[in-house]
Amino acid sequence: MPDRKPFVGGNWKMNTNRTTGSDLARGVTDGVLNIDGVDVAVFPPFPYLLTIRAILRDRGSSIRLGAQNIYQSAEGAFTGEVSANMLKDCGVQVVLCGHSERRHVIGEKDELVNKKVRQTLESGVEAILCVGETLDERLAGHQDIVNARQVRTGLAEIPGSWLERLIVAYEPVWAIGTGKTATPQDAQDAHKQIRTQLAKQYGPDAANRVRIIYGGSVKPDVAADIFAMPDVDGGLIGGASLNAADFVTICKAAATSGRSK
Ligand code: PGA
Repeated sequence: MPDRKPFVGGNWKMNTNRTTGSDLARGVTDGVLNIDGVDVAVFPPFPYLLTIRAILRDRGSSIRLGAQNIYQSAEGAFTGEVSANMLKDCGVQVVLCGHSERRHVIGEKDELVNKKVRQTLESGVEAILCVGETLDERLAGHQDIVNARQVRTGLAEIPGSWLERLIVAYEPVWAIGTGKTATPQDAQDAHKQIRTQLAKQYGPDAANRVRIIYGGSVKPDVAADIFAMPDVDGGLIGGASLNAADFVTICKAAATSGRSK
């Protein structure tokens, strides 16, 4: 069995303020202090990155600091955008690329997501490539085609040597923020197909080392069953990451699942 340490990310989206975000960071930091066997990251909104970084650092926490988005160029006249170097400068270690809300609310296409993944990995930061089908695509039975395309295009021109800094998040659009979680078997089937696509591009050994995490209405009561699936290596958590106790419970479920695989 490949040794893939579970990963759990808390995607705060456009929620919290400086006070509630700080409280949340303190709650999560204290809650995961004695949990081994899982990599944990939080993704606060841009304006709070430095505040949250200071809290993590003061507490000696191993929680990674994440950013929810990045601009695809290194620097220049791009009003309102944020570069990889700026994020690194603020202590960011991992960046979400192509989250479904970026794809479907903001309108990011596969090619743009690919540029963001390249920019992130090139700058030495970890990238989470988010993929996932819409409800219509699932009802038409096209989920595997869509996910394979998003992985293939999202990783175009990414050398295999960069894969150790890559995580793929499978987040079916119909499950995000809707309270509809994919069944553990739905998640496992999709993750297996995504790993097959990775194997086509990079070979089976490399594909087996990449963590594929699940996102979409993961709550404390369903986390353990989903994380128990052989190709599910943790989760990307939205709503439930805004409650420290819920998020910590989910992190514990991932840590335990890693030991049992
Ligand atoms: P959710 O969000 O847990 O609120 O469904 C997941 C995500 O968007 O990453």
